[in-house]
Amino acid sequence: MDEKIRILVVDDEKVVRNACHRVLTGKGYEVATAENGQQALEVLGQETVDLILLDLKMPVMSGEELLEITSTKYAHIPVIIITGHGTVDTAVECMKKGAYDFITKPFQIDPFLITITRAAEKRKLEQKARQFEEENIRNLYDLNLEKSRLKTIINRMANGIMVTNRNLEVVLHNPALMRLMEISEGIQSPAPISKIINDESLTKTLKQILNGETSEDESISQEISTGINVLKAISAPALGPDKSVVGTVTVLEDITAFKQLDQMKSDFVNMVAHELRSPLVSIRQLNSVLLEGLAGPLEEKQQDFVNRGKNKIDSLLELINDLLDVAKIEAGQYVQRQVPTDIGKIIEEIVALMEPRAREQGITLTFSCQDLTPVHADPKNIEEIFNNLVSNAINYSPEGGQVTISARGQGEYMEIKVEDTGVGIAPEELPKIFDKFYRVKHPKTRQVIGTGLGLAIVKGVVEAHHGTIDVESAVDKGTIFRILLPVITK
Ligand SMILES: Nc1ncnc2c1ncn2[C@@H]1O[C@H](COP(=O)(O)OP(=O)(O)OP(=O)(O)O)[C@@H](O)[C@H]1O
Ligand SMILES: [Mg+2]
Repeated sequence: MDEKIRILVVDDEKVVRNACHRVLTGKGYEVATAENGQQALEVLGQETVDLILLDLKMPVMSGEELLEITSTKYAHIPVIIITGHGTVDTAVECMKKGAYDFITKPFQIDPFLITITRAAEKRKLEQKARQFEEENIRNLYDLNLEKSRLKTIINRMANGIMVTNRNLEVVLHNPALMRLMEISEGIQSPAPISKIINDESLTKTLKQILNGETSEDESISQEISTGINVLKAISAPALGPDKSVVGTVTVLEDITAFKQLDQMKSDFVNMVAHELRSPLVSIRQLNSVLLEGLAGPLEEKQQDFVNRGKNKIDSLLELINDLLDVAKIEAGQYVQRQVPTDIGKIIEEIVALMEPRAREQGITLTFSCQDLTPVHADPKNIEEIFNNLVSNAINYSPEGGQVTISARGQGEYMEIKVEDTGVGIAPEELPKIFDKFYRVKHPKTRQVIGTGLGLAIVKGVVEAHHGTIDVESAVDKGTIFRILLPVITK
């Protein structure tokens, strides 16, 4: 606070007023003067005053009378009484009535200034304290306003919100969460999480977050079912001021309707695929009959047309089979028969099958196997995995590329890798390539024909075998698909 202290000198003697004015302005104070109590009140009414120097004996309105008024109306302004030697008693009396201090006439400069400085300091301190108090009140008000705003937003949200502390107790939840979880009774915070959500996979995720197994800006999305509703839960760490994990935040979205629609769409596609397959198989057989000349000899041109028709039917049947595979995977009916399966043998067969195609496209196909033990799997499914991954690797690599398949036993798991030196996949595309029908638009691979079902099938098969698949890729450098499958342990 750099503002100057403003002192009002009230004395009927001009000499005193002038002397005070000179000394005080010399010390950096601002000074106003008044000849009597009446004039002083006028000044007080118009200007801000920080300190009053008050003579007691004055005409019109005496110092004592003025003091009575200032001690109630201007209680925050310290008053220093100016008094002659004979009237010290009266000065003491005045202090009882609220004056801050007194100085005796004739003034001695130093004690006079010390008294003034002390009073000025007191005034400054009081002002500062008041300012702090006002600021404090304002901050508290802002904080409360912000809190109630936040509360309103959270309570009105259609999505469920659940915040837990480090002990996995729910410390904040909103009405939407209660509605989604179909809980009607009130829940006191903190409440054990099992009182609200009893989902093992979500609890596991939250524990991972609390153990710091995820990065601070990572959020984990998963689907959970309440029996009636299907919810998408997105969980992330709640961070303290020092960035340590102090709890978890989960947002839950109701995707029941979306799931139902998705199911309807899948059922529809499945039905159409089924209905198309039988007539197509018949047409294909008829074409074969024609081609083999069993219905009479065909001219060269006729043979060519029928052959082309048969090829089109073959790719249509392939698409239909893929669609039916996806539907089976989604219904959990894909993996039919699991037997101890030798992955090495399947790789050899695939390489033999794909080699001519790779060579045709100027691509070298190699493989390596190490420490293999059998896995519990459906061999047809495993073939399907390699078929898709290897044909992708060949399709999405330019001439001169290198495709490597490797399988390596690693304790309880078998690691399978399909690597290529192809066009690669941009980071923003990576999370989407396992989605049904998703294909990356890339000028270099526009000519590749496909439906975008291959990787969806691969992922479905791997997961049905309790394995995992991930992908690493660099644009124009190449791509690695890495699968871990559990092996049969004795
Ligand atoms: N090895 C790879 N290198 C570069 N891009 C790839 C690779 N594998 C897959 N992709 C990209 O991922 C997309 C999805 O692959 P996916 O196998 O699911 O479908 P597809 O090959 O387009 O069609 P299909 O259903 O006939 O296999 C591809 O369109 C391609 O853009
Ligand atoms: Mg493919």
